[in-house]
Order: sequence, then structure tokens, then C-alpha cells
Amino acid sequence: MDYQAIGQDALARIAAADTLEAVEALRIEFLGKQGSVSALLKTLGALSPEERQTTGPKIHALREGVTEALAAAKAALEGAALEARLAAETIDLTLPAPEAPRGSVHPVSQVMDELAEIFADMGFAVATGPEIEDDWHNFTALNMPESHPARAMHDTFYLPDVTPPDADGNTREMVLRTHTSPVQIRTMLAASGDGGEPVRIIAPGRVYRSDSDATHTPMFHQVEGLVIDKGIHLGHLKWTLETVLKAFFERDDIVLRLRPSYFPFTEPSVEVDTGYSWVDGRRVVGGSGDAPGHSWMELLGSGMVNRHVLEAGGFDPDQWQGFAFGVGVDRLAMLKYGMNDLRAFFDGDVRWLRHYGFSALDVPTLSAGVGVAA
Ligand code: DAH
Repeated sequence: MDYQAIGQDALARIAAADTLEAVEALRIEFLGKQGSVSALLKTLGALSPEERQTTGPKIHALREGVTEALAAAKAALEGAALEARLAAETIDLTLPAPEAPRGSVHPVSQVMDELAEIFADMGFAVATGPEIEDDWHNFTALNMPESHPARAMHDTFYLPDVTPPDADGNTREMVLRTHTSPVQIRTMLAASGDGGEPVRIIAPGRVYRSDSDATHTPMFHQVEGLVIDKGIHLGHLKWTLETVLKAFFERDDIVLRLRPSYFPFTEPSVEVDTGYSWVDGRRVVGGSGDAPGHSWMELLGSGMVNRHVLEAGGFDPDQWQGFAFGVGVDRLAMLKYGMNDLRAFFDGDVRWLRHYGFSALDVPTLSAGVGVAA
């Protein structure tokens, strides 16, 4: 048999195969169980030893040649297929990437951050306290004993729980804190040991009252402020609030009016009004409320810390004085950024959040700072 001719014919057909399927078909035709080259190998057994010595190597060489040719053809076709795919599937690196959805900073968080930054410039630390509070911290220690009529002014959410009994077996009722003022007590108690040390804190956070209409939500936000030192007077309070509000509203013409008021935890108590006018249907803070076209509006409550409150916090009121204030963050945000419905703050409407939210990557406003050394 002319093994060379058989080999040449096989190699020619393999070389002509132009698909992987065709190569596979040839592999089966030549090397499969019933394949023609396999059949040649089987004939070796019937040959005499001499014949096998001459024919054997030829058949083995033939099988090796065919095997190699098949592998080479397969590799070449696979390579070509890959090339074709790479050529077809080009990636255009100059195309803009699809934008990943990005959240935004809620105006309430933004305003609390802004206030924390302004107050930090003036040496105030940020203090926090629990939202589930006991009625001693929320009321009693703030000079609102049980049955005090001012307790009725807060539409309090009472919880079914009470504190664990103290040494005398007394428990305290638990409430959702109705204001951030209990943080005053917690801060004072932490600072009044060993004769006491000065306090300068703000306490931003959530507060709760059973109240709901266009200007009230059952949960809202306040920032409390507390300063305790020796020789503190109402002048410090007024200067601090004026400086902070100028920085916050980014206006030099903020005019405040301190109006006598009543809070159980301060004596004297003042309500702080700011002048404003209407510009393009929007309330704009600035100027005296007595100026033409202007009015006053109430901004926050404050006063000198009542001596009963200093005592509850462990400070000797004959040595230490302080001022305190509490302001609604949501209202400040509405005023500064021009929203008019408080309820929208807490609806979680993504369109509203996109419109009024702030980029987390933006440097907070207030590039000018408060302009005073700490
Ligand atoms: N806690 C008061 C409220 O929620 C606000 C307030 C008024 C806080 C006067 C104070 C203050 O610290 O001195 O209505």
C-alpha cells in the first residue's frame, strides 16, 4: 500500500477543511474507531515480524502526521475565530460610562452640618443623647416637675417602658424626647464633677411630638446649644446667636430682636426674632423687622440657664452661669433654601430630594466661615 499517497491525500483534505466541524469530521474519518488510519494500524497484527519492522514505522508515522495536522488545523481555525470575535467586539473607550445612581444629602443633614461647622469655629463641641429618654431628663431636671403645666405644652409620646428601679426602688417613665434640651442635663452631669468645667456644646438631633399638619410633623429636628462658664450673661447669648446666624444665612445684615418670654429651664427667657422681607414670593431674612416692607418672625427660644437646671446638672448656680437655646432645624432649612411644605421633608420623594438635596462631594457652603477666632 502506498502509505505516502494515503498520507498526502489525508493532509490535503485536512488543509482544505475550513470549519472546526469539518476538521472534527476528518478526525473521526481517519482516527476514529472505524477510521481508515485506525484500520491500517489493526492490520499490523496480521503481518510477519519482518513485514511489521518495515511497515509498522510507516503506519505510525502516518498516524502521527495526521494527528498533528488535525491539531494544527483545529488551532488555526480556533485562532481565526478568536481574531474575528476580537475584531467584531471592539470596545469604544471614548464613550461616556453610564452614570451610576447617586444619592444626595438631605437639606436637614446639610443644615445640621453647616451649624456644626459654624459652631465648631467658635469652640463648640457636638453632644448627643438618646431619642428614647426618661421623663426626668426630658422634663423634671429641666425644671418641669410632674404636673407642671408646661409639660402639657409638649404633646408627648409616652412609651410603655420604665427605667430599671434605682437604689430607692424608683422608676422613671420613658418618652420619645420632645426636645433636645435633655442633652443639656446629660452634658452638665458629665462636666460638673470635681467642681465643674466650662461647657460649650450644640446638640443636633431628632425630637418627637404628637402633632401633624402643614407646619408640624410628629418627628422633627432641633439643635440645642448650651454654654456654661463663670460670668456668662445675656450679651454673650446675643453676640453668639448674631454671629452664627450671619454665617448661616451668609448675610451681614441679620438683625435680631430679643423678646421676653417664658421657658421653665431659662430665667430670664427670650424669644429671638429676626427681621425679614418678601422677595419674589419668598421670605428673605435680613434687615430690621421695623424697616419699611419688613416684619419680625420668631426664630428660636433661648435664655439664661435657670438655677434649678444648673443644680440638676450638678453645677453650683452661685458660681456658674450659662445660656441655652433651641432652634428648629427644619424651619432653618426651609428659610435658607426656600421650601414651603415641611411634610415634603419626610415624604422621601426622590424628585424632591434630587431638587433640594446636596451633593455629598460638594464642600459644604460657608466658605467664609464665621470670621472669628475660636
Ligand atoms: N426646648 C424648647 C422647645 O423645644 C426650645 C428651647 C427654648 C431650648 C429655650 C432652650 C431654651 O435651650 O433655652 O420648645
